[in-house]
Amino acid sequence: MKQKEILLFGASGQIGRNLIRKLSKNNYKIKAVTRNIHTSGYIIKTQANPGYLELVELNNFNPQKIEELMKNVSICINLIGILHERKKNQFENIHSELPDMLSKIANKCKLDQFIHLSSLGIEKANDSNYARSKLNGEKKIIKNFKNSVIIKPSIVYSVDDKFTTNFMTLLSRLPIMPLYYNGNTKFSPIHVSELVEIIINIIENKKQNLILECLGPETISFKDIIKKLLKAINKKRLLFPLPDTLAKISAKILQILPNPLLTEDQLKLLKHDNVKTGLYKTNFDINMKTKKKFDDEILKYSYNWKNGGQFSKSAENLKIK
Ligand SMILES: NC(=O)c1ccc[n+]([C@@H]2O[C@H](COP(=O)([O-])OP(=O)(O)OC[C@H]3O[C@@H](n4cnc5c(N)ncnc54)[C@H](OP(=O)(O)O)[C@@H]3O)[C@@H](O)[C@H]2O)c1
Repeated sequence: MKQKEILLFGASGQIGRNLIRKLSKNNYKIKAVTRNIHTSGYIIKTQANPGYLELVELNNFNPQKIEELMKNVSICINLIGILHERKKNQFENIHSELPDMLSKIANKCKLDQFIHLSSLGIEKANDSNYARSKLNGEKKIIKNFKNSVIIKPSIVYSVDDKFTTNFMTLLSRLPIMPLYYNGNTKFSPIHVSELVEIIINIIENKKQNLILECLGPETISFKDIIKKLLKAINKKRLLFPLPDTLAKISAKILQILPNPLLTEDQLKLLKHDNVKTGLYKTNFDINMKTKKKFDDEILKYSYNWKNGGQFSKSAENLKIK
């Protein structure tokens, strides 16, 4: 059987790294595009066995170069995304114009599949630039590549995420944890390994013309997520519901930081639940059930944030008497 070749954009990210590992195990050959081979190359290279992965450096998205790359593959997956804007990296460029260009070229090159990662729960958040840009990207892709697959996950977590790990760091350092909108916003956290399984399933079953919401097995409020993380790292913290005006001021200040934990735009997104919308099919509807429970999975790596680390309990028993 001819090995399928996949062109992957955004390969060094959380989903990209996990997807490369699984794709190469399943005998796919991956061409991974990165902006800087020196900063991201080693992260990507270590994910696949030799022979399964080729790194391509592209620091400006030149349509001719992309067309050259697409000519030799049958599938293109776009995982490029940003959470906050910087001078040159605007949501509209990254989430709308770039997917527009990629899907046009994919169509011209007659690829079998064009798979794009968008986000869940953005339809109602029309005051958020992030949400609007992601939706614009989706519309352009559907227009350019009729049989595209658009995947809309809720928050994705794993030992190598920027979500649970950042919050466990914050919770282990701060005495008080602010809660935005009383911590009532709901999520359906999905473990990265299960999201990757869904993407592989979509490739193997040659799914086309599909918009799919990807959810974990549970719906959990932000406040309960924080409580679960606190329990996992064995810490007690005061959870403080932040009034909306204070929340806005804090986001205004935090967004100045190089990798902000919160921006004004994210605060607008947080107003809306990040759960099944009823507008599209979900992974449960097409028999791709997720089972991994948030509590069980975070316990596998939360010891990093516990006092004394993984063996702290047994170490107490080892005390020399
Ligand atoms: N993780 C989640 O919880 C989650 C939830 C919903 C939706 N999504 C979507 O899923 C996709 C992948 O998510 P992820 O968490 O794996 O993302 P990530 O870790 O933030 O990585 C995204 C990748 O995008 C590339 N990138 C970032 N800024 C770029 C720019 N200005 N120009 C070109 N490339 C740029 C980077 O690749 P290089 O540095 O190698 O070039 C990076 O590896 C994104 O579209 C995201 O919006 C993620």
